[in-house]
Amino acid sequence: MNILLLGSGGREHAFAWKLSKSKRCSRLFITPGNAGTSTCGQNVALNPLDFDAIGKFCLDNQINMVVVGPEEPLVRGIWDFFQENENLKSIPVIGPSKAGAVLEGSKAWSKQFMQRHKIPTAAYREFTGENIGDGLQYLKKHSLPIVLKADGLAAGKGVVICQTHTEAEQEFQEMLGGKFGSAGHRVVVEEFLSGIEFSVFVLTDGKNYKILPEAKDYKRIGEGDTGPNTGGMGAVSPVPFVDETMWQKVEERIIRPTVKGLRKEKIPYKGFIFLGLIKVNGEPFVIEYNCRMGDPETEVVFPRLKNDLVTLFDNCAKGTLGRVKIRADQRTAATLFLVSGGYPGDYQKGKVITGLEKVKGSTAFHAGTTEKGGEIVTSGGRVIALTSFGKDIVSAVRKSKRNAKVVDFDGKYYRRDIGKDLIG
Ligand code: AMP
Ligand code: GLY
Repeated sequence: MNILLLGSGGREHAFAWKLSKSKRCSRLFITPGNAGTSTCGQNVALNPLDFDAIGKFCLDNQINMVVVGPEEPLVRGIWDFFQENENLKSIPVIGPSKAGAVLEGSKAWSKQFMQRHKIPTAAYREFTGENIGDGLQYLKKHSLPIVLKADGLAAGKGVVICQTHTEAEQEFQEMLGGKFGSAGHRVVVEEFLSGIEFSVFVLTDGKNYKILPEAKDYKRIGEGDTGPNTGGMGAVSPVPFVDETMWQKVEERIIRPTVKGLRKEKIPYKGFIFLGLIKVNGEPFVIEYNCRMGDPETEVVFPRLKNDLVTLFDNCAKGTLGRVKIRADQRTAATLFLVSGGYPGDYQKGKVITGLEKVKGSTAFHAGTTEKGGEIVTSGGRVIALTSFGKDIVSAVRKSKRNAKVVDFDGKYYRRDIGKDLIG
């Protein structure tokens, strides 16, 4: 099978790494890819949002399957683009339709969906410029802290947790005033949930679903979960507090009604559902849905997944996921992100990365890397994710930390406390 993978991050390197291990993968193309994906297949310089160019490439190269890493092509309707084109409709796209990707693309829509299907989530109200006055009144009476969410995609910056009413009122007005462009023309005001977060991944063919290993990611830049949010500084899988009882609640109250709800609403969905969950007093609630895999969670989930990924996707496309049994490595996987100095604020690019060939006992997944004049240099904030296995979190993290010292570039930073909160 010839496969085209869209995206360029650590998640996509993990996808490419796993797909290329399959005997069923004949040729693998990644667009645009990074210096890591080029070791698993062939990078192609296309824009994943240029659907005409993607379609043409698929026809010219006898592509049999398109796998979509990031959310944006899905939210913009790449699945529908393929379906609506006579020449492309026979090529399966792993990922939801535009109507399904709205689970991530519109926070207001996803809250309404959860209400319709009685899926546990924080209480909320939504407001636009038309009822801004009602919104401000609502905020005045709201308990603190107040969670404000720009409705649309805002590059991970659209959620603001406000500690005072003044801050909330100001942020609310700025969002509706265009701070995040059209993404903020509708704002969700949400009750703050206090608990511990974890990520659950489901692959569905629209009818059947399979649950992948869970993970916990570390979003803040600083140790002890301090400082601004990032794309993710590290992750571990499995998550010790997600026990059998929790899994039963998650499946019964969240996963099943989500998949059933999509089907009932006749929303085509053949792809990943990423559930951002929070455990509050022993009960799971949905913080958010994403229509894709997580990053850096994929860098620990896929190494633990024993199934052949091409076979899994093929069953997903054909609607036969029911016959699949997910098998997971029972060991613990941990990943640790090396990031550019200054990230998630301003940072420099083009720093030469050394020591990658000396990595031992970990897998180095590339994110913001590129090749330049025979060297591998940084090209983004998150640069390399170092994934290791261990009998427990301590031993897995220890291996990644050892290799974090070996791989180097000017300004390198990483958190040394990944998984520490889970060690009891
Ligand atoms: P998101 O950008 O949707 O991933 O949200 C970013 C982060 O904001 C989440 O991972 C949570 O840590 C936090 N968050 C979002 N909604 C809530 C909520 N209702 N209560 C507490 N924290 C929240
Ligand atoms: N790690 C969180 C995300 O991928 O959105």
